Amino acid sequence: EVAQKGGYEHFMLKEMHEQPQTVTDTLLGRVPEDSRLPIEIPELNITPDDVRRVERLTFVACGTAYHAGVIAKYAFEQILRIPVNVDVGSEFRYRQPILGKNEWVIAISQSGETADTIASMREGKEQGARVLAITNVVGSSVARLADGVLYTRAGPEVAVASTKAFIGQIVGVYLLLLYMAQYRHLSPSAQQVVRELRQGLWRSARDIERVLETADKTRAIAERIAEKPVAFFIGRNMDEPLAREGALKLKEISYIHAQGYPAGELKHGTLALLESGVPVVALATQSSVYDKMVSNMQEVLARDAWCIGIVPEGDERVTQLLGEENVLTIPRSNDYLHVLPAAVQVQLIAYYAARALGRDIDQPRNLAKSVTVE
Ligand code: G6P
Repeated sequence: EVAQKGGYEHFMLKEMHEQPQTVTDTLLGRVPEDSRLPIEIPELNITPDDVRRVERLTFVACGTAYHAGVIAKYAFEQILRIPVNVDVGSEFRYRQPILGKNEWVIAISQSGETADTIASMREGKEQGARVLAITNVVGSSVARLADGVLYTRAGPEVAVASTKAFIGQIVGVYLLLLYMAQYRHLSPSAQQVVRELRQGLWRSARDIERVLETADKTRAIAERIAEKPVAFFIGRNMDEPLAREGALKLKEISYIHAQGYPAGELKHGTLALLESGVPVVALATQSSVYDKMVSNMQEVLARDAWCIGIVPEGDERVTQLLGEENVLTIPRSNDYLHVLPAAVQVQLIAYYAARALGRDIDQPRNLAKSVTVE
């Protein structure tokens, strides 16, 4: 087992370190570095006409994969202006969803074997939607059921808490977006974002590496979080699903009660729980809502809670507000790309908090890597 871990203390740590490779592998052969060449993903089995015709997308997934679906919603709606639903697999088929013929149901699943995700795909098929899958396992049930597949190339993931598979899913979502962008009418500003995303995705492998290289600071903060019974994560726009993912990671491996919240919802309930020293990880990587996040951090500080910021390098206001020692950075690129290194920051917080508590990080109690029953 020691050999399998490649010298790392846990599979989770090893898999986090494989994330730059996941990015590169998932892009390889699909996104030509020469931006004049088209992006082609033949396994998806969709034609340019299908892309022009599609009217709505519904992402279905569970757990961490669901958070990749929420990221997809923000990105597809903001850039492609296609309406998007996101559902957790266990809810989708029981809420009598309405689907039409120019709609796609897109399952996201690392294992490709999650029962609720499979059942959601069946529901989509029954209603005549096109069913696609973003999955990490070739030949899995999800892959076989789908009309077209986009494989993430994270390789086998052993730790129950998903890390590199999540990064692969985000890259997969962006790949699908870039592919579709070629055949949809986009505003000039959206075209610019697509160009940046296409070029920047390759560089995000390096951005993730940078976060891993500076993990000592994250570790010091995480070790202090480990002393607390509770922690909150807040964010807006694409940082909102990351706040949820950060809380999920922390609770599943450290057993610290953690909640991830849209930052604007704080004042509708969660503020009542903030008191001296309660850790609140505030993600502020999204430029469009940066000012709003600064106000939310002020609300947190006003309750004497402990606010930890995650911001792009070069940030001044948050750093001044929270103090250098409470700020974690990611390389600065654009809002969509920030999601990747920011996801790694919250993974590291969870990992080092769980490690400080001596938890069974790779095999947390009561949880399974793949949930094949309803
Ligand atoms: C389990 C795992 C999670 C995973 C979820 C969905 O709960 O512990 O890490 O996110 O299932 O799994 P999938 O294989 O469908 O992505």
